[in-house]
Parts: sequence; C-alpha cells; structure tokens
Amino acid sequence: MSANPVGSEVYPAAEALNLLGCGRADQQAQSFSDSLQAAAHLGTHLASLAGEIFGHTQTREPGWLARKCVREGVDPGLSQVAVSTSPTPQALGYFLIGRRPTTPETAWTAGLGVHPNWRGQGIGSRLLAAGEQAVAAAGMTKLVLPAPRERLGFYRGRGFARQRCIRTWMGFAHGPSDSPCVTSAPWELPQAPVCELLAWSADVWRRMSASRRLRYTLGPANNPVGFALCSPEGRALLCHRLVAVQPVAASVVINLLLQAIPVGTPVLLYPVAQVSSFTEVLDDSCFAPIQTAEELIKTVLVTAAQP
Ligand SMILES: CC(C)(COP(=O)(O)OP(=O)(O)OC[C@H]1O[C@@H](n2cnc3c(N)ncnc32)[C@H](O)[C@@H]1OP(=O)(O)O)[C@@H](O)C(=O)NCCC(=O)NCCS
Repeated sequence: MSANPVGSEVYPAAEALNLLGCGRADQQAQSFSDSLQAAAHLGTHLASLAGEIFGHTQTREPGWLARKCVREGVDPGLSQVAVSTSPTPQALGYFLIGRRPTTPETAWTAGLGVHPNWRGQGIGSRLLAAGEQAVAAAGMTKLVLPAPRERLGFYRGRGFARQRCIRTWMGFAHGPSDSPCVTSAPWELPQAPVCELLAWSADVWRRMSASRRLRYTLGPANNPVGFALCSPEGRALLCHRLVAVQPVAASVVINLLLQAIPVGTPVLLYPVAQVSSFTEVLDDSCFAPIQTAEELIKTVLVTAAQP
C-alpha cells in the first residue's frame, strides 16, 4: 500500500466491513455467542492491516487478532475503521473498542493504529474522536486504553490522563514436561483465595475458548498452596490470575508456579503494577519486565441517543 492523496472516511467497524466486502458484523449482537463471532470476524479482517501497523506481518500466530478481539470483548458497533474508497476500498486504520459486563460504564480499547504510509494526516485523531462519540452514544462514561510510553503526548493532547503504569513480566518454567492442568477452567477457584497476587479480568477469561483456559494447581494436589489460571500465547503461557489459598509468602507462590508448568515454557504475568512489593519478589525470582504500558483514561460525555 502506498500513500496517495485520496481522502478517507471513518466508519463504525460493522459498516466498514460491509464497504470492504467482508460481510457485515452485527451492530448489536443479540447473544453472547453472536458477540464472540462478531469480534472474531472483525479481528480476522483487520489482521493483515495490524501486521503492517505494528511491523510483525510474519511473526504472530495465525488468528492472533481475532483471538484478541474475542478475548477483549471488541464490539464492531463501537469500534471504528478508516477506509479509503478509491480506487478500491481499503482499510487504513482502526480503533478497536470493547465492553466488559462487570464494568458496564467503561469502554476498553484493544488497539488504535494507522498504516505507516498514512500517519500524520489526522486519521488517528479522527478514529479516536469517532470512537469516543460511539462510546458516549452507547451511554458509557469512561474510555480506558493502554499505550506505549512514546505515545503519551499524542493521547494527552486529546484529553487522556495517566491512570497507572502496567507491566508484563516474563520468567521460565522448570516443571515436569507432562505437568497436569485442568482445561476449560472457570475464573472461580476450587478454594477461596487468601491472597490475590495477580488478577486481570473475569470477563476476558470467560470470553476465551474453553480449550485455552488452563488451571494449574500450585503445591500438592491434596493440599494446594495456590492456583494459576493461564492461557497459551504462542509458545508462552500468559498467567491471568495467581492466588494463594494458604498464608504463604508471594515468593513461595511464584516458585511453585514455575514448578507447575513444563520446563522451558516462557511464563508471562499481566498486568503487574509498576511499583508494588510483588515486583521485588518477581525480581528475586528470575522474572524480568518485558513490556511497559501506560493505562490512560478519559471521561466521555454521554450524548443523547439519536432519534
Ligand atoms: C498513534 C497513531 C495511531 C497516530 O495516528 P495518526 O493518523 O498518525 O494520527 P494524527 O495524524 O491524528 O496525529 C499524529 C500526531 O503526530 C504528528 N505527525 C506528524 N507527522 C507524522 C507522521 N509521519 N507519523 C506520525 N505522526 C506524525 C501529527 O502532527 C500529530 O501531532 P499532534 O499530536 O501534535 O496533533 C499512529 O502513529 C500509529 O498507528 N502508531 C503505531 C501504533 C501505536 O502506537 N498505537 C497506539 C497504541 S495502541
């Protein structure tokens, strides 16, 4: 794709897919399974553009964007896509926006991006503004997005404030190669937690396919010390929830986690607050931070629904 002087328009994603000849994702999914399908459909059709935007056309597992859209509750009725219609329709950028049932007032974003050849022409700003309007029209009052530090200026100039800094940490497991785990595990655990060391989102967990929801028991099976909920991310396992069910030190739980997962598997922990006593324990347990994101928030003004 090359830059050309032809203009572009920003459309709600459901409409954009129609224009791009990719079929229509439901604006208003009627059921939970409809909403999963609509999110996957959008992610499938934007995957090659995402590869160009983030420069990883070859390195991601097939289907990664569809899975991300499903997991993060991306709603094609809220999300926006910039399309140039001449000479043939092509997508130039997107703003993916999702919902989580447990936080109905907040819209969560799963990515804003513009093709490198089209940056600096206001498309990102227009996607952002259109997304905010859609969020407000849907009656939500907050928009949260994770952004790399180098994009802070862009978002601050558009009314976003820094909420917290979150990191992904990585370590390497050293358990047996046939480590047992439970699949299709629910977010709820067999025993009440004494301490919650890490918890992403029950909504995100419930939206993932059953075969990817793995639960590892930490410590002896008949007297567990804790539990970890993890999903495969390429070669790695991403830990979504890590709890102790006995009063033990965090370092004990971390070491049991590494012993519960097959040797050599990269173990990712997300989201870890930048400054917490937990990060000191991770530091001492051979984990290292591999990614930092600023979580930004903007309050949007609810607009009256269009007649
Ligand atoms: C962040 C991003 C979406 C912005 O999109 P965009 O279409 O370039 O946005 P705009 O043109 O509306 O504004 C870009 C800003 O950079 C400036 N700019 C000028 N030339 C530019 C260029 N060649 N490339 C990027 N930005 C440029 C613009 O003037 C504008 O400045 P301002 O913030 O002072 O107004 C885009 O750079 C991108 O896709 N980056 C990679 C993915 C990413 O980091 N996404 C955000 C986290 S999910």
